[in-house]
Amino acid sequence: MSDAKRIAVLLSGRGSNFESLLKASRNDSLGGDISLVIANRPGAGGLKIAQDAGIETALIDHQRYASREAFDRDLAATIETASPDLVVLAGFMRILTFEFVARFENRLMNIHPSLLPRYPGLNTHQRALDNRDTHAGATVHYVNGELDGGPPVLQARVPIHANDDAETLAARVLQVEHQIYPEAVSWHLSGKLSFRNNLLYKDDNPVPLTGCLWEGDR
Ligand code: GRF
Repeated sequence: MSDAKRIAVLLSGRGSNFESLLKASRNDSLGGDISLVIANRPGAGGLKIAQDAGIETALIDHQRYASREAFDRDLAATIETASPDLVVLAGFMRILTFEFVARFENRLMNIHPSLLPRYPGLNTHQRALDNRDTHAGATVHYVNGELDGGPPVLQARVPIHANDDAETLAARVLQVEHQIYPEAVSWHLSGKLSFRNNLLYKDDNPVPLTGCLWEGDR
């Protein structure tokens, strides 16, 4: 096995965030290689993208498992075959068990399409519109036992326009997702992020409770 850092990606759907990570790894801005892509749904578009890119894939269909625990055990065992430095959730639509999260503690990241801690869970864009928020965004965070509740790493804000609906807003947010996920992953892989007394630091600075604020390409 080479010395390059290794990433395992878990996804359930179209895989555009995975694709943004793949692009970054191919142009050497990620600091690691995507070694394995695992999907829990046979039709996941992200699986095809991975196969076409020559990346090892696995399909672990949750519908074939009697319990969440049994699914997560197989998922963890498959992930371990790749010895990843980081496990990345990229639109992985399954709630993970506490045991799974504990096993990959501090090396499990997710991206969520809202300005956490606002709007954990589903339908984030419609909820932001219903509340007449002026801004929406996306947050990359480490995963802990709470739904979308782990420590934020990096957050990007976008304006909400008067004529937005959930679809137009989602598209605007997705554009920044594709920028901040590779950035946060590269921070992890290059050792910039660390936990001290349960608090997250980037280099020697405490990370704000909503994550570092993304200021665009520098
Ligand atoms: C993204 O909006 C992500 O924030 C959320 O699920 C969606 C996945 O999209 N967790 P894609 O499959 O990466 O295109």
